Amino acid sequence: MVDWKNPPKLFIPGPVHVLPEVLQQLARPTLGHRGKEYSQLHKETVDMLKKVLFTEQSVFLSTSSASGVWEGSIRNCIDHNETVLCTMCGAFSDKFADVARACDRKVEELKVDWGKATTVEMIDKKLAEGKYSAVTIVYNETSTGVTNPVYEISEMMKKKYPDVLVLVDAVSGMIGLPLHFDKLGWDVVFASVQKAFAIPPGMAVFAVSKRAMEKSKKITGRGYYFDFQEFAKSAEKDQTPTTPSIPHIMAINYQCKRFLEEGMENVWARHKKMADFVRSWAKEKFGLLCEEKYASNTLTCVKNTRGIVVGDVIKAVQAKHNVAFGNGYGKLKDLTFRIAHMGDITMADLKELLGWIDDELK
Ligand SMILES: Cc1ncc(COP(=O)(O)O)c(C=O)c1O
Repeated sequence: MVDWKNPPKLFIPGPVHVLPEVLQQLARPTLGHRGKEYSQLHKETVDMLKKVLFTEQSVFLSTSSASGVWEGSIRNCIDHNETVLCTMCGAFSDKFADVARACDRKVEELKVDWGKATTVEMIDKKLAEGKYSAVTIVYNETSTGVTNPVYEISEMMKKKYPDVLVLVDAVSGMIGLPLHFDKLGWDVVFASVQKAFAIPPGMAVFAVSKRAMEKSKKITGRGYYFDFQEFAKSAEKDQTPTTPSIPHIMAINYQCKRFLEEGMENVWARHKKMADFVRSWAKEKFGLLCEEKYASNTLTCVKNTRGIVVGDVIKAVQAKHNVAFGNGYGKLKDLTFRIAHMGDITMADLKELLGWIDDELK
């Protein structure tokens, strides 16, 4: 039986551990979503998110998980006669391609084995075929703990393929990893809040470039719930098109204040420090699934080189210490396990967790 008063502390790669003061934001009295108090909250939150994402373009709040914006980005940015290049390096980037197909778009796959990164050269070679109007990229592949070299990819794309739209899933990257939306020249980036924002699930945040907004106007069949034009119209009044999850927006507002007080460079450095710590433990005790230069700063995917029964170790640590960490994803279930080091997880938490795993391995 789950003890609801004392649920396990989460080190799975999302949802992650949430601080009590963040939870309290979700318990504040609600507001009418067409009133001026709401508009004030909305505007303040969006303005802070623009600073967090280093953008002066559009930022929107979606009452959905990130999967909704997967769909929205495809429907709004790729026309029916166009082909999208989907870069695929794990379960989530694979799903981005599935979403594009489900939206009836023509998809060409650029696939690497799970645990590998998608490189500049690979994308350059494919785009040189000249038939793509957009590319999808996952910044941080949560199933494998790989961070794709998006800064180099973006530099190359700006120089060589400036007309190709760049749609980026930063679900487990945003906040934990550097992200300068305007400088990168991306067209859409999105994340759900249960990862490095360290908020319970239920909302997504996304940014859209001016040119993607313009392009979206001409595309038919954008759908209803994720129509970027509707988001833009409502944003003029500091509102959302449909009733938003106001408690989540209160929590996003609270967390953004904390990020900006700390400074984004420091937030990213804090994530790197936690990642370095977990990675050095993983290398000493096991191995990393990916090449170290692509290893993520928000989660570590540990290669099960010792052949432990991953599920049993997770269960034993949880039973003794009331914490949960992640098994491998999909086909990597028993071959890897994953430890999140993002959001409000601390070095002290990680030291404790790794100590407990060590005890269990003995
Ligand atoms: C990289 C990545 N993309 C997309 C998703 C889907 O996000 P959501 O479950 O919030 O819809 C996830 C979920 O874990 C993810 O890790």
